[in-house]
Amino acid sequence: MVEEHTPMVTTPDIEKKFSKTLINWYLKNKRELPWRETQDPYPIWLSEIILQQTRVQQGMSYYFSFLEQFPTINHLANASEKEVLSLWQGLGYYSRARNLHKTARIIITDFNGAFPNTYKSLLELKGVGPYTAAAIASFAFKEQVAVVDGNVYRVLARIFGIYEDIMLNTSKKTFYELAQRLIPKKDPDIYNQAIMEFGALYCTPANPDCPACIFNQICVANKTGDQSVLPVKSKAKAKQERYLHYFMIRCGNFVLMKERGPNDIWQGLYEFLLVESKTPVSFTEVLKLAKGIPKKNITAEFASPKHVLSHQILHARFYTVEVEKAEFEKLKVQYNLEKIALEDLPATPKPVLISRYLKAHKF
Ligand code: ADE
Repeated sequence: MVEEHTPMVTTPDIEKKFSKTLINWYLKNKRELPWRETQDPYPIWLSEIILQQTRVQQGMSYYFSFLEQFPTINHLANASEKEVLSLWQGLGYYSRARNLHKTARIIITDFNGAFPNTYKSLLELKGVGPYTAAAIASFAFKEQVAVVDGNVYRVLARIFGIYEDIMLNTSKKTFYELAQRLIPKKDPDIYNQAIMEFGALYCTPANPDCPACIFNQICVANKTGDQSVLPVKSKAKAKQERYLHYFMIRCGNFVLMKERGPNDIWQGLYEFLLVESKTPVSFTEVLKLAKGIPKKNITAEFASPKHVLSHQILHARFYTVEVEKAEFEKLKVQYNLEKIALEDLPATPKPVLISRYLKAHKF
C-alpha cells in the first residue's frame, strides 16, 4: 500500500515558495505566546520542556509559575529537587522535571552559566533531544535547524504526500531531510514557529479546512482526499494494565508515605504504602499482599478513576487505615515509611494519582 505512493518531487523554487507562504500566514495568524517574546534560551528551554507535557493553555500557568519562582537558570540550579518536582506537580512524566533541574546545575557548574548555543552542543544536555535542541538553537540563536514534531510530521506528510510510517526510523530520515531543505537561512526561528503553528491551528488532525487553505493548490492530501490517512502512524503496543492498592496509614495529623527510589518514573515523589497486583483482586487478596495491615482499622475505601499514562493504565484503590501510635510506629518501621504531617502534604511532591485522591478527599 505504502509503495503505491510517491511523494511530490520538490524543487528549490517550490521549497522557497512554501517557506515564504508559510511565514506570511504565520505573521498574520499567530498566537501571542509569552515564550515567543524572548530570545533568552532559559525561558525558551523551560517552555519547550513544559510544552512536551501539556497543551499551550495549561502550559502557560506552569511557565509563569516556574519563571516567578526561578527567574534565572541560577535560581533553578540552586533549588532543591523537591521544590522543582512540587512546581511540576500535575504535568506528569517527572523525569522531565528532574532532567530540567540537573541540566540547570550542569549549565551553572560546567558551562559557567552560559547556555550552550549550538544545536550540536544543546543535544549533549540531559533531557534535550533533537526537537528541543532545534527549537532552542533556532528560537534563541537563529540557527538554521528544523524542528520536527507531531505538527511538522502532519503538515509535511499531507502537503508533500509522504506515506511513510512515522514510527519507523527510516522514515524519520525522510522527514528530517525535507524539513531541513525547507527551513530558510533568514528567519529560521520564525519559520520553525510558523510550521508548528500551522499544524496546531490550521492543518489540524481532524477536519482541516482544506478548501480555504493557502496550500490547497499543491497539497497532495487535498488532491487525494487522504487527510485522515496522513501522517501514516502504526499503532502503538497495547498499554499494560496495573492494579495499585494504596494504604493511607493515618494517626492523628500524620500519615505514612514513601519516596520512590531511583530508576523509577516516579523517582523523588511520595506515595502511600503500595501493593500491586497484575489483575483485579478481592479485598481478602489485597490484605494478604499488605501484610500487617489490621483489617479492623480500615475506615474507608475509594476506587479512583482509571489513570492513563503513555504506556500504562493504572487502576488504583485507596484504603484509609486509622491506627494508634504504637501500630503507626510499627508499620512505619516494617515498611520503611516516612512520617509526614497533613499540613506538609501540599508541598510534598506526589504522583498525580495521589494528588487527585487527596484533593477529592479535601486534604
Ligand atoms: N509547542 C511546542 N513548542 C511550541 C511553541 N514554541 N509555541 C507553541 N506551541 C508549542
